[in-house]
Amino acid sequence: MEDWISLGYLLSAALFIFGLKKLGHPRTAPFGNQLGALGMLVAVVTTILQMGLGDGIEWVLIGAGLVIGSLIGLWMAIRVEMTGMPELVALFNGFGGAASALVALSEVWRYMEDPSNVPTDQLEITVIMVAAGLSALVGWMTLTGSLLAMFKLKGGVSIFGKWIKTPTWGPVWLNPVKVMMVVGVAVLIYLSIDAPTDENYLWGIIGISSLLGIVLVLPIGGADMPVVVSLLNSLSGIAAAFTGFIIGNSVLIVAGSLVGASGLILTFIMCKAMNRTLPDVLFKSFGGSGEKESLTRTKVGSDPDEVAMMLDGAQKVIIVPGYGMAVSQCQHQVKEFADLIAEKYDTEVKYAIHPVAGRMPGHMNVLLAEANVPYEQLIEMDEINPEFPDCDVALVIGANDTTNPAARSGEGPLAGMPIIDADAARTVVIVKRSLSVGYAGVDNDLFYMDKTMMLFGDGKAMMTGLNNAIKES
Ligand code: TAP
Repeated sequence: MEDWISLGYLLSAALFIFGLKKLGHPRTAPFGNQLGALGMLVAVVTTILQMGLGDGIEWVLIGAGLVIGSLIGLWMAIRVEMTGMPELVALFNGFGGAASALVALSEVWRYMEDPSNVPTDQLEITVIMVAAGLSALVGWMTLTGSLLAMFKLKGGVSIFGKWIKTPTWGPVWLNPVKVMMVVGVAVLIYLSIDAPTDENYLWGIIGISSLLGIVLVLPIGGADMPVVVSLLNSLSGIAAAFTGFIIGNSVLIVAGSLVGASGLILTFIMCKAMNRTLPDVLFKSFGGSGEKESLTRTKVGSDPDEVAMMLDGAQKVIIVPGYGMAVSQCQHQVKEFADLIAEKYDTEVKYAIHPVAGRMPGHMNVLLAEANVPYEQLIEMDEINPEFPDCDVALVIGANDTTNPAARSGEGPLAGMPIIDADAARTVVIVKRSLSVGYAGVDNDLFYMDKTMMLFGDGKAMMTGLNNAIKES
């Protein structure tokens, strides 16, 4: 039996690793996802077999947990809009952290209930208490931080029908408080090693860690939110790995480490894409006061017929998608547009993909893949930017911050964020409903340039109108 258990864990760890590798490319990502899910199924079945349950209540409890959990997960996955995905990811991160912390808690709780359960070996108890303390620190901090991040992404919370805006607040003196809280938890963990049956230390660690999650996320806003969500994702994996040490479960250590490492890599990729360092994101609260710039300038809009006429003769068009494409779900109309101009005007079409366009990593790739846009046409920011000076038309669809030249100024919430150089194209066409600001709340000079034509309206309606105008021209 022992050998079968080891084999089961080895198989699930291998499935996680191969799944993760396949997730690296949009074409293979769905298969990677399935491999990961299969790996988790193998891990769950192996763990249940390892527990050697009798035929009593345990089966009922585990079966009920599996069925209820799966149904809730399925319901949420079906219900969620593509635009609500980051909130769901934040919620799942929080639950992941809490689950790990609860498992760790249940292990040390046995010592408090019956001191004879405390291991006699000093090294063993030291390892368990340190791992349990770290799992509690990371797990509870991830839960409260993720819940706050979810409400921040939603923009607020509805209590008894009253909408309360989620605050963004973080004076500089809060930073030393955060450090003191971490030191406080470290001291409590140290003290708990010699008193594993004393529950006061445990409650202290849980209380401070929960508060820490809130004070860490409270000052963060604007364009920095995706970085925080990714960091919390990584932390939920680290909490799981600590818990794996406590209960001696190798697959939990492997899976937790994979989530921790991949989440951290993604966090650094996003920091690089926004030209921010992780300490800046966490301690400078630079990314968002939540304030939006008020608009004073105006611009007369164009219509689809005018844009269609201008497109006749364009040799190269680069499409720049953003969050508005996700909101209006116009990816199919965008693909139809690309096919139409390629066929009718023999135009070369490419897509410029900014790493943080939309509201989650890979958001644009997922939407465009759904519309069967060939992967070869999706070009990443660094590679496509040098092509804009040779491009006749940059068609910006619902993108704002990721094209905002204000990012080059070195000031404000977008300072230093690399952008798509759409302003370098000969003509710019922008599809959005108004001149309003994007996620970071900064007015965009690109709208007001002489070479820019604004197509004011919902993305789907405007792209449908543009396609009809091209067909009729
Ligand atoms: P944003 O700057 O958020 O701008 C999107 C624009 O879409 C808005 O200005 C809005 O203008 C327009 N829009 C909304 N609904 C529309 C509709 N139905 N039809 C047409 N246009 C519509 O978008 P972006 O350029 O993609 O930048 C993303 C921002 O989100 C960055 O600041 C990024 O840091 C942040 N963020 C990214 C992520 C990840 S990981 N991708 C996660 C969270 C936050 P109108 O209201 O005038 O239509």
